[in-house]
Amino acid sequence: MATALIILAAGQGTRMNSDRPKVLHPLGGVPMLWHAMAAGDTLFPELTVVVTGHGGPEVEAAAKAHNPEAVCVTQSERLGTGHAVQQAVPALEGFSGRAIVLYGDTPFIAPETLERLAEARADVTVLGFTPADPGRYGRLVTAGDSLERIVEWKDASAEERAITLCNSGVMACDVDLLRELLAGLTNDNAAGEYYLTDIVGLARARGLAAGVVTCDESETLGINSRPELAAAEVAFQARRRAEAMETGVTLHAPETTFFSFDTVIGRDAVIGPNVVFGPGVTVESEAEIRAFCHLEGCHVSRGATVGPFARLRPGAELAEEVHVGNFVEIKNATLDEGVKVGHLTYLGDAHVGEHTNIGAGTVTCNYDGVSKHRTVIGARAFIGSDTMLVAPVTVGADAMTGSGSVITSDVPDGALAIGRARQETKPGLAVKLFEKLKAAKARKLARR
Ligand code: UD1
Ligand code: CA
Repeated sequence: MATALIILAAGQGTRMNSDRPKVLHPLGGVPMLWHAMAAGDTLFPELTVVVTGHGGPEVEAAAKAHNPEAVCVTQSERLGTGHAVQQAVPALEGFSGRAIVLYGDTPFIAPETLERLAEARADVTVLGFTPADPGRYGRLVTAGDSLERIVEWKDASAEERAITLCNSGVMACDVDLLRELLAGLTNDNAAGEYYLTDIVGLARARGLAAGVVTCDESETLGINSRPELAAAEVAFQARRRAEAMETGVTLHAPETTFFSFDTVIGRDAVIGPNVVFGPGVTVESEAEIRAFCHLEGCHVSRGATVGPFARLRPGAELAEEVHVGNFVEIKNATLDEGVKVGHLTYLGDAHVGEHTNIGAGTVTCNYDGVSKHRTVIGARAFIGSDTMLVAPVTVGADAMTGSGSVITSDVPDGALAIGRARQETKPGLAVKLFEKLKAAKARKLARR
């Protein structure tokens, strides 16, 4: 059956105490909203509708960055979850199939759980859970296998509050039915809001079936405050570390490896202690990332080694068997197979041909204070230590630069370029100079 996702993201997130809309706070390096969207994507929805309110344009931009086809609708007044879903209804015009409601601030719903929900047969199906502390969650009032209604904590009797099966907020309902049921909502309740949860009682009153699918409490974790955001990050990292190890990645100190939402690491890759993967990183099989590296927006191919203490910034492309050593920074640069950049180097806006060796202290001077320029180095070249490559500049294949050179013009294939002052050597002068300096120091001490 065709699926439409409705993602509620209009909440202000008052308890975050932030100028940033709650659903845009990062979790695993990307907006929290993306996690719910991505979980929903596993159902291959025909349509994704995001209900925005607080910080609408920013939330819309983030939603579209994840899914350019997402439709964003505005809920200008926050009149309740039922009212929020009502705002999505016009965007579902012409769609027939099942709607699944998710919350933008609830990132951990598992794809398997959504699949069970999507496959459920009842007219309305609610995702329930039994938390350790049921607190103020809405309670699911059941009779056997049937869900009779949902009662919000504020409206519940003492007896209803004793129910431990709670509402996660995630729900599935046929779109045409949803439209009809929403039209019957009122705000005659303790919060004065239009509760989405009331559609269950309305469906039952019509003799329709309502049911519950349950999941673990960890999946329904919602984020309302900074401590909850921090706890969610801990949970996210724990899950990603476990997944990485299950898929054959060695983590030397798993508790110090930090992943992003989209980090991809191949089998038999080895990750040393204290490595941070920002967004957009792929590391192929058998690559090694040594201790204390920071990577983002980059690709590390099979058999490459990185670090310790290296930084790969967006656009760093390392081919197979590349070696990047300590205190090396690479940005927007492609290193072909077998390139070695062992120490203390900056390569930015560059292309380095295969098997070229970059000496310690090499810098691509890519920025003139106004614009960025490219450096191109051919295959099998040897860049001497402490070479400044003043871009735009090209060093040919099989070429060399002398240590300490400032290379300001192109070096042809096979040429040796030396751009530094010629050395002068003065026999005996060091000894004389030492004597002079020592005598001066002695005179100074004597004057005291
Ligand atoms: C809701 C449920 C409750 C459930 C709980 C689970 C209702 C009436 N209650 O309660 O049964 O146990 O979630 O966390 O549905 N939102 C909007 N517009 C609105 C109101 C809310 O977009 O006008 C969004 C919020 O941003 C949030 C989600 O809907 O993402 C849930 O809203 P929230 O106010 O947190 O609902 P609860 O009162 O916690
Ligand atoms: Ca809530």
